[in-house]
Amino acid sequence: MSAAEKIIAPAPSKKAATLSVDGKTVSFPIYDAVEGQSVMDISKLYAETGMFTYDPGFVSTASCESKITFIDGDKGILRYRGYDIDQLAEKCDFLEVAHLLLNGELPNKKQKAEFDRAITLHTMVHEQAHFLFRGFPRASHPMAIMVGATASLSAFYHDSLDINVADQRELAAYRLIAKMPTLAAMAYKYSIGQPFIYPQNDLGFTENFLNMMFSTPCEKYKVNPTLARAMDKILILHADHEQNASTSTVRLAGSSGANPFACLGAGIASLWGPAHGGANEAVIDMLQEIGDVKNIPDFIKKVKDKQSGVKLMGFGHRVYKNYDPRAKVLHSTCSEVLKELGKIDEPLLKIAVELERIALSDEYFVERKLYPNVDFYSGIIYRAMGIPSKMFTVLFAVARTVGWVAQWKEMMEDPKTKIGRPRQLFTGASPRGFVPMEKR
Ligand code: SDX
Repeated sequence: MSAAEKIIAPAPSKKAATLSVDGKTVSFPIYDAVEGQSVMDISKLYAETGMFTYDPGFVSTASCESKITFIDGDKGILRYRGYDIDQLAEKCDFLEVAHLLLNGELPNKKQKAEFDRAITLHTMVHEQAHFLFRGFPRASHPMAIMVGATASLSAFYHDSLDINVADQRELAAYRLIAKMPTLAAMAYKYSIGQPFIYPQNDLGFTENFLNMMFSTPCEKYKVNPTLARAMDKILILHADHEQNASTSTVRLAGSSGANPFACLGAGIASLWGPAHGGANEAVIDMLQEIGDVKNIPDFIKKVKDKQSGVKLMGFGHRVYKNYDPRAKVLHSTCSEVLKELGKIDEPLLKIAVELERIALSDEYFVERKLYPNVDFYSGIIYRAMGIPSKMFTVLFAVARTVGWVAQWKEMMEDPKTKIGRPRQLFTGASPRGFVPMEKR
């Protein structure tokens, strides 16, 4: 049976949790995970006790059941559908992993060829979508364009908006995976005043993306296979990550029945934040601000001074309290790319490696279990490839589109899905009489 078999209902364990409140004892079923933390089902808490749970930032809250990605933050483990991330990054290409995330299994040769072809045939965007870009100033942040352009795809593809029809959901998923690199490259070309480059169907997914980013109509452009392979690895590492902020945004938007293009527009908006996907751009800004290895001790002092509000960007994680396994692969990929480009002496890498060495031996970071995360090295690789820092989070969105659509599809197929509608702890004004304008 495929690992992606439909989510029916979690298997209740023999254990139950009991809660006593106001002299009443309520018990809640516990569901055991295949791996990782069990959960207690508190869905009847309000009905039984008249109280809500309170968990700002959802530190202790599981929002759903999922079979897609597993993270063990203490051990630094990340698996897509049961496969370790470093195995997938080393042995697969991005669309192979996309098939795995979407369908639950690695494709065989025939399935891979069919899936690659299906995605390839959707890489072009509607010709009228080109005019969307004209409305943006050339200096717009490309993420502003991506939020708008992605959601606007729902204006063009009416035959993949009915979320209740499985074929239309699959068509929308394929279109989003295929068109995100095209929109990303268009946003880059628009920002530098160069013409859009059309997708080439004889190129692989990542080669095609790099060709749309860097070729021009004026001369032949040959994609560097080492860089294409490195980019493919980076896309795999960023493809999915359980219920992170942007994926949770996509799920919440999708729970209202919104179309997948609009949901991914919301996901891109959430990813843009510097605490989330925007961190890769912030890491480069931080390394450039440090400027030299000798300035690291002063910078570390600033980070430790809470008043400064300065964070060590690319460090720390809500789930990983160990080295982010993606950062390990990215660190070695970074050295490969810099060597290929003859930039092994890149000063920013030297600062990053020294910053990591100091931070990992400093009590402040050790006691808070702050390790490099996925964003710490990715920006150095992109920069070496000639990609401007404003495009870094756009590349994150290109990769995470696969995770977003896989999680959205799983949610849409889960019979337990209902509109997400959290409650609150109200601490505002008590009831009071209206005060007319003349008396205020
Ligand atoms: C991504 O969720 C995902 O899976 C995200 C992601 C994905 O693939 O989708 O992995 C991608 O978003 C990676 C994270 C990228 N963000 C950054 O690199 C920005 C810098 N990191 C921090 O903003 C922070 O670490 C978070 C937001 C990532 C996590 O914050 P938490 O879990 O809310 O942790 P916290 O703020 O409660 O931190 C605990 C302590 C605090 O100090 P104390 O109050 O205990 O004294 O650690 C400190 C924090 O001040 N701390 C940091 C820090 N991160 C946490 N101090 C300095 N520098 C940091 N980076």
